[in-house]
Amino acid sequence: MQNRFIDSISQLSKPLSTALVPLLNDDFCGHIDANQLSVLIDKTKLTEQELLLALLPVAAALASPSLSQFFVGAIAKGGSGDIYMGANLELPGEALFHTVHAEQSAISHAWLSGETQIVDIVVNFSPCGHCRQFINELVDGSKINIHLPGQATAPLSHYLPYAFGPTDLNVTRPLLSKSNIEFNLESSDPLIIEALDQAGLSYAPYTNCHAAVVLETHDGATFCGRYAENAAFNPSMQPMQMALSNLIRHNRDYSDIKRAVLIESSKGQISLVGAAMDALHTIAAVELEHIVVDPS
Ligand code: THU
Ligand code: ZN
Repeated sequence: MQNRFIDSISQLSKPLSTALVPLLNDDFCGHIDANQLSVLIDKTKLTEQELLLALLPVAAALASPSLSQFFVGAIAKGGSGDIYMGANLELPGEALFHTVHAEQSAISHAWLSGETQIVDIVVNFSPCGHCRQFINELVDGSKINIHLPGQATAPLSHYLPYAFGPTDLNVTRPLLSKSNIEFNLESSDPLIIEALDQAGLSYAPYTNCHAAVVLETHDGATFCGRYAENAAFNPSMQPMQMALSNLIRHNRDYSDIKRAVLIESSKGQISLVGAAMDALHTIAAVELEHIVVDPS
């Protein structure tokens, strides 16, 4: 298989491509740690903002826009100083609401990697209303700096004035806040253990439907997605979508999926199983293993 970054590398300046190419192997999933980032700044003599904008074609190469062929790339910079790329994902043959936007992919990449704050979001097209809302649901969301090609940097509050958010529903701990729920289930199955841990880290203040999906591929790797609710409900990110975008960022194909597990809390007001099955069955002939568990 040809390296998926070949075309994007040709869009980079010579110093940047020389510095970056060693990172862009088949395993590159869009995570560049703070040390690697400072080496890139050093070698290219770009400012951090110039570098992040210049990296957008690489982020966009992680996209899977099977319907639109419209490649969107985004980068979220975490409070740790690491950066996380994301890209849009469209599911062939299913309703458009299953789509993952590049900004959501980058934000979920940061969240799954343990970030508890995002300070910058860089994206190659102006973020849509749905993404502006999703960003506003994060810790200190209105202060997150948005960087776009050819635009002055501005905080989200510039792009989303008069915002609606978690505090309107009396939720004081926004998305990315640290929290952990334990579940009562003994299992020796590593996939189920991982899904239980991830469901405990999910964010469901509006329905209590703590949930996570873990996908296992034939090579033994696992890719998880946690449920991430929004006060505005509709932009919420489903765990199956988050897991699929994680899998695609890691250069796997849908045909690589061997098992899929959805864990949900028994205390939720809703169930995500129908939505998860719809998304899974359009891309893989794998039965969803659905387990409902009691929180302790
Ligand atoms: N898209 C994004 O990824 N982010 C935005 O904010 C604008 C739209 C994606 C969604 C869909 O895959 C494609 O672009 C066309 O809308
Ligand atoms: Zn969007």
